[in-house]
Amino acid sequence: MQRTRLACEERGAGKPVLLVHGFPFHRGQWSAIVPALARHARVILPDLRGFGGSAFGPGSDEVVQSMDTHADELAELLDSLRVTEPVTLVGFSMGGYVSFSFFRRHRARVGALALCNTRAIADTPEGAAGRAALAARALVDGPAPVIEGMLPRLLAPETLASRPDVVASVRELMEVAPPTGIAASLRGMAARRDSTTLLPHIDVPTLVVVGEHDAISPPAEMRGIATAIPRAHLVELTRCGHMSTHEAPQDLASALESFVRAL
Ligand code: MLT
Repeated sequence: MQRTRLACEERGAGKPVLLVHGFPFHRGQWSAIVPALARHARVILPDLRGFGGSAFGPGSDEVVQSMDTHADELAELLDSLRVTEPVTLVGFSMGGYVSFSFFRRHRARVGALALCNTRAIADTPEGAAGRAALAARALVDGPAPVIEGMLPRLLAPETLASRPDVVASVRELMEVAPPTGIAASLRGMAARRDSTTLLPHIDVPTLVVVGEHDAISPPAEMRGIATAIPRAHLVELTRCGHMSTHEAPQDLASALESFVRAL
């Protein structure tokens, strides 16, 4: 299958900051965060393969888009944008899984790391089987079963009950996800490696961000990630579930902005 360059947008100028979105979103996930960062940095916003402007072509129902392939495609994108200096790599959830792969495979290109609402452990066998079943359903029914299954876990109970605008905007992000992209990345996430043993070897300044009500990458687990990475700083966002980009955009933007400015 021929793969074209990833679709991508750039904002601002200065040190490169690469923002890697989660599943099943697209680069628009970062829209509330970009203005603060673009005041100080060259912000690079790709759509990972299968999403947004990087959708697969026809005949891609069986693709497994591994986290390593996502990472290699980001490295190719940096080449094509002529980014030679190390980037600040910011990964949200699945973007964090991709960031671990990127760190392993393209270590020299990472100057700093921000891990937002993500996990270092691999899927359990049950979790991986659930993803395989969901991939098959998405190819038949589109994003609806993914939205039904994920939305209640993406957002804090308080957000679900009293912030309909946030619920609607997260739903909108997911509604446009192409079924082939959903299926390919679900299979890729199911097969991803455990990154726990990598954590002590992450030797760059690292920001770890978690929401206090994150049900997907729980605070206790993310505190463990921050403890295991030698130069990590942990930020816990109050009144926030998994979707920090939407439930606490100002706090997330200011944490990322301070981190980038201090580098
Ligand atoms: C994400 O937000 O990227 C997903 O929740 C990651 C996952 O399903 O493990």
